[in-house]
Amino acid sequence: MPDIDVLVSEVGPRDGLQSVARTMPTEVKHRWIAALAGAGLREIEVGSFVSPKLLPQMADAAEVVREARKIDGLTVLALAPNLKGAERGIAAGVHKLSFPVSASRAHSMANIRMTPEEAIEQVRKTCELCQALPPDSRPSVEVGISTAFGCAVEGAVSEDWVMRMAADLVAAGAASVGLSDTAGYANPVQVKRMFTRLQHAIGEHAGAAHFHNTRGQGLANVVAAVDAGVTTFDASQGGLGGCPYAPGATGNIVTEDLVFLLESMGLRTGIDLDRLITARAIILEGLPGEPLYGHVSSAGLPKGFAYAAAGRHG
Ligand code: COA
Ligand code: ZN
Repeated sequence: MPDIDVLVSEVGPRDGLQSVARTMPTEVKHRWIAALAGAGLREIEVGSFVSPKLLPQMADAAEVVREARKIDGLTVLALAPNLKGAERGIAAGVHKLSFPVSASRAHSMANIRMTPEEAIEQVRKTCELCQALPPDSRPSVEVGISTAFGCAVEGAVSEDWVMRMAADLVAAGAASVGLSDTAGYANPVQVKRMFTRLQHAIGEHAGAAHFHNTRGQGLANVVAAVDAGVTTFDASQGGLGGCPYAPGATGNIVTEDLVFLLESMGLRTGIDLDRLITARAIILEGLPGEPLYGHVSSAGLPKGFAYAAAGRHG
C-alpha cells in the first residue's frame, strides 16, 4: 500500500444491508457503491452469496458484483458461506471471497448450519477450486473468524481455539485470516493481545479487524488493533449492520468516524471525508427513514483539520 497506511474496507452493502429487513433497490446499491468508491474507498464488500430464501436483501449479489467490477481500481469483495456461494461469486467475477467462520459452535450452527470444522472444510474446497482457475480470474479467499472475542449465544470463546482455527484456515489455503467481533464483546486489551497472538500464529496471513460497535467500544478497539500492527479495518457507512443470527448484534463501526480517527492519528486512508459523508444520502434514497449513526457527519470536521501526510504519523 504505497500511498496509504491503512486499508478501510467498506462492508455496508453486505453487513449493513443484511441486517435491514427491507431490500435496497439494486439500482440504488449501484449508485451507493459508486459513490463510496468515488470518495476513495478501495475495497468494498458489495454483497453475499448466501441463501436468497434466508436473506432476500442479497438476492441481487451477482448483478451488484458485475456492476461494481466496472469501477476502476476497486477491489470487489463478496461473502460466501459455502462452496456453492463461492461458485456463484466466482461466476459473477469477484476479486475476493470472504468466508465467515465462527469460533462459537452455537453461532456457527445458527448462522450457517455447519460446525466450525465443516465451515473450514468449505474454505478448503473453495481454495482448491480457486487454485484450479487461471490466475487472472482467481479470487483470493479471506476469512473472518466470527465471534472471536465472545459470542451472544455461547458467551466466552477460547482464545487458544481461535488461534488453532486461524492456523487450520491458513493450512486450508486462506490467503488471510482476520478476527471479527460479531456482537460487540471485545475490549482493547483483549484486541491487542489477540491480534498479537494472531501474527505469531500465522504471520503475514494475519488479516482484517472487523468490529461492531454494539457496546460503544469499536473505535477504542481500533486504536488497540493499530497498536498491534493491524492495517485493514472493516467499517460500514452510517454504522449500518449486524448479524441476523447473533442476538442483539448492532452495526459496525462507522466508516466516517473511523476515517476521521485514522487520519487524525496520522494514518493515510486515501478517503475524502466530505465526499464520503455526501454518500450517506444515497442510503436514505434506497431505505427512507433508516437510522444512520456517526459523530463526524453531524459535528462536521474540526477547524484546521488536516489529512495525514506521508511519513508524518501523529
Ligand atoms: N447460495 C444460494 N443457495 C444456496 C447456497 C448459497 N450459497 N447454499 C445452499 N443453497 C441452497 C441449496 O441449493 C438448497 O436449495 P434447494 O432447497 O432449492 O435445493 C438450499 O439452499 C439448502 O441447501 P443446504 O446446503 O442444505 O443449506 P442449508 O439450508 O443448510 O443452509 C446456508 C446453509 C449456509 C446456505 C445458509 O445457512 C445461509 O445462507 N446462511 C447465511 C447466513 C448469513 O448470511 N449470515 C450473515 C452473514 S455472516
Ligand atoms: Zn459483521
